[in-house]
Amino acid sequence: MALVAGIDSSTQSCKVVIREAETGALVRSGAAKHPDGTEVDPQAWWDALLSAVDEAGGFDDVEAVSIGGQQHGMVALDAEGQLIRDALLWNDTRSAAAAEALISEHGGPGPGAAAWVRMTGSVPVASLTVTKLRWLADAEPAHAERVAAVALPHDWLTWNLSGSTSVEDLTTDRSEVSGTGYYDPALGEYRYDLLAQALRISEDRARSIVLPRVLEPNESAGTGDSSRGWGHITLGPGAGDNAAASLGIGMSTGDVSISIGTSGVVAAVSPTPIQDASGLIAGFASATGEYLPLAVTLNGSRVLDATADMLGVNHSQLAQLALSAEPGAHGLSLVPYLAGERTPNLPRATGSFIGLTLESMNPADVARAAVEGLLCGLADGLEAMTSLGVPVNSIQLIGGAARSEAVQRIAPAVFEREILVPAPGEYVADGAARQAAWVLSGAQNPPQWTVSEVQRFTAEPTRFVRERYAERRHLFAERS
Ligand code: XUL
Repeated sequence: MALVAGIDSSTQSCKVVIREAETGALVRSGAAKHPDGTEVDPQAWWDALLSAVDEAGGFDDVEAVSIGGQQHGMVALDAEGQLIRDALLWNDTRSAAAAEALISEHGGPGPGAAAWVRMTGSVPVASLTVTKLRWLADAEPAHAERVAAVALPHDWLTWNLSGSTSVEDLTTDRSEVSGTGYYDPALGEYRYDLLAQALRISEDRARSIVLPRVLEPNESAGTGDSSRGWGHITLGPGAGDNAAASLGIGMSTGDVSISIGTSGVVAAVSPTPIQDASGLIAGFASATGEYLPLAVTLNGSRVLDATADMLGVNHSQLAQLALSAEPGAHGLSLVPYLAGERTPNLPRATGSFIGLTLESMNPADVARAAVEGLLCGLADGLEAMTSLGVPVNSIQLIGGAARSEAVQRIAPAVFEREILVPAPGEYVADGAARQAAWVLSGAQNPPQWTVSEVQRFTAEPTRFVRERYAERRHLFAERS
């Protein structure tokens, strides 16, 4: 029975699953931590990947491998393929001013946003690679001058797996490249003019910079490094983590996932490109040849982590506290912009508790407000998605925080819809493994693996919670 591996190189850790190619049955798994911070030496991801592979029993018997990775991170390489500096991650907001400048350079904020959406499917925000390159050009010109190739985290890791040291061999896939800000996902073309604009160089010089070759969803990225003692390994194209997760849970048109990990992500599969000049929805591509519009917040599960820490309780106690409070937390709202925010685009924002009274200033209402605030931000993303005409027939809740009983029970009240919760799993790594099996099979479509049983949750809608949140979310958010 052929075995395939899927890797999730995420913000916080690296996870590896090894599954049977035909059935998807789980055989072995491993994991290793990544360093904290929004600026990371990619070598640490490679070291974590190797130890997670070791923990999973190695790759000797594995025939194909794909990597799902945290999106957007800037991995800048010189002509020898050496790292020029640490990678800036998707959640690093130092390029917020660069994003504003790049937009304004296309005719001011409004027309500029519309122009970027037409050119790349998305309005630049600090997360997107293009803004990080502009930051590099302005803040570290000596580094910018040495840039000979730009890769994303999973592109660089796939290249490392291949053992190549030539930047010409770098590859990527549609889902990842559509989040760079210098690629047009509707036409499937790099925009060297935008790369030139970002780096403040001529288009000729931009064309001399190597950008990874964009592979088809089931096209091989080559073979694994034979000097590592592994068997013959076919490398899959890999994908951005959100696209890999949608493959992992078997999403198709009409399915929406709401993932609460380090980021909070509302993702939908769309057969056509989605363009939203308001910037709430990014028009990315999927790992299956379609499109994957996303609304992404910077404040996901860490809102619950921070609230639990502040209250001195663990996650299950936090959930019980939140569920013991009334909906609406006696008028208390948490606007959870603890790490700045991306959707809405408020990179310099801070969070606030609003509505503290003698009645609401207690652990149960604080816990409830934290869960409701986290979910209200995601509900705004869901609403933006439906207002663009993206079909929403079912909603699956995934990611670490989907395991919280409070999130499971309060989400249907805030989203005003039934919520499906699949069994906890490594969906990004699973999607990558399914992609690896697809590449190995040479078939037209991904293999049909059994998707896990889902639990269904319904609740009385609590529209007033969202209305009050909407009145309050901008009150104290803007900081210069
Ligand atoms: C998506 C995004 C995040 C990261 C998290 O646009 O920035 O979801 O991919 O890993």
